[in-house]
Amino acid sequence: MRQFAKYARGLVAGLTGVALAACGGGGGGTTASGTQASPGAPSAPVAPTPTGTAGAALSLAAQVGQKLFFDPTLSASGKMSCATCHDPNHAHAPPNNLSVQLGGPNLNQPGSRAVPSLRYKEYTPAYADLLSNPDGISQPGPGGGFTWDGRVNTLADQAALPLMSPVEMANVSQAAVVKAVQAASYAPLFRQAFGSGVFADAATAFANIAQALQAYQREDPGFHPYSSKFDLYAGNKVGGSLTAAEIRGMRVFTDPARGNCASCHYQGAGLNGSSALFTDFSYEAIGVPRNMAIAANQMAGYYDLGVCGPNRSDHAPAAPGAADIYCGMFKTPTLRNAATRQSFFHNGVMHTLEQVIRFYNTRDTYPEIWYPTVGGTPKAVADASFPTYGLITTQYVGGAVRKYDDMPAGYVANIDPQMPLDGRKPGSMPPMSEQNISDLLCFLNTLTDGYKPPASAPISGACVN
Ligand code: HEC
Ligand code: HEC
Repeated sequence: MRQFAKYARGLVAGLTGVALAACGGGGGGTTASGTQASPGAPSAPVAPTPTGTAGAALSLAAQVGQKLFFDPTLSASGKMSCATCHDPNHAHAPPNNLSVQLGGPNLNQPGSRAVPSLRYKEYTPAYADLLSNPDGISQPGPGGGFTWDGRVNTLADQAALPLMSPVEMANVSQAAVVKAVQAASYAPLFRQAFGSGVFADAATAFANIAQALQAYQREDPGFHPYSSKFDLYAGNKVGGSLTAAEIRGMRVFTDPARGNCASCHYQGAGLNGSSALFTDFSYEAIGVPRNMAIAANQMAGYYDLGVCGPNRSDHAPAAPGAADIYCGMFKTPTLRNAATRQSFFHNGVMHTLEQVIRFYNTRDTYPEIWYPTVGGTPKAVADASFPTYGLITTQYVGGAVRKYDDMPAGYVANIDPQMPLDGRKPGSMPPMSEQNISDLLCFLNTLTDGYKPPASAPISGACVN
């Protein structure tokens, strides 16, 4: 019988031992990690349900939260719930491959960022400029918090954002949300959870709605099932033997000289007693290409620069264009269930995991397939050797590549220089071989929840040998 996930620490530590190149976080302490420390509602700790089914074990607040999460009447359109964008059947991420989702009263208003998965957020500490890094080696740096730029500190505060955003659930006021809850079939449950007079004051009722959504996300095992093949492997469970290809991929993932993914997507023991979350909660600038499919990006002077704005203002440059180390930084997301995603990075500019890996591998060696070329002449027929896996498949003669086209030139200095994005010269050897790439993909596929070991081990297939 499987227990609700806890790892044999030794095993996980063993596989992480090699992966300690510095990533902008810090050394294993307590700073700002207290607020969201433990999963489960503070008032009503719950027994984990090994089957992964929600319901009986949830606190009253979390039970209401579950109703709220799936309730489309909490949107101006009457058609959009949290689950529309954070679909539990798609690892609490969108069911489609749009870079950004459409919302608003008529469901035709585009957002400006890709929708993250809501899985494995229960250990996320509050944002801090100098958050300790779980790897115990890296210097403290920007980390923690919710959204791609960390502007929200708790899951409860986060819930207010989509409810009120004009391009998401688009409610005109908090009172409108409260009114919808008051009219809902589960209004009695809401009163039971938060008091019979809870609807008397709209602000209090709204705060409790947010609390309920937080309790649901923290308590329901569906948000943190730890049911991937990797979890069986790390827990030394039956069915958890990785194939030769997956093992090699794991080594690429942790090897500082090849993938080095683990230095940011850290898979060792994390903050607050967590383990193998495949993120160190840190913010880094890696120079993801601009996505012209995002409406806001049609405006020439508009840049989404993450931690320095425009969606948060506490780290805005002192004057337009002034030096600011926070510009271009986005949150390092967990890689659990990344293989199920259909849009990647904060702007959803890529749509396959293989393309993401190839971007890491050739951002510096082949920048012209990721960033636009200015002033060149397109070739009618590209050379046979010109790669077709990039964002740009037209080959140019002459011209200049506008590398890091989604940030003003002054912020290029903020780009993180560590492997595999070490700034090596165009045309030089990329850090990963074709074999490394396919092995890494195999390993990342072991991080998908809901793994059912086959009756007998496969003897053929892409990820076996
Ligand atoms: C229209 C699509 C949409 C809907 C509906 C929606 N969200 Fe989101 N959600 C997003 C996007 C986009 C982001 C990233 C926002 C950002 O980075 O600024 C996000 C981020 C989040 C995050 C932060 C995750 C992280 O990795 O930091 C949480 C938590 C969250 N949403 C919860 C909810 C809840 C609860 C609801 C319902 C009340 C909801 N969302 C409804 C699109 C949506
Ligand atoms: C320097 C730190 C760093 C390293 C090293 C790193 N990543 Fe990332 N990763 C990030 C950050 C930061 C983002 C978000 C960037 C953005 O959206 O602008 C990200 C995003 C991703 C995403 C998109 C996930 C999603 O939900 O959209 C994938 C997949 C990914 N990384 C895989 C990898 C792999 C595989 C490697 C190793 C080859 C790797 N990363 C190495 C920091 C890093």
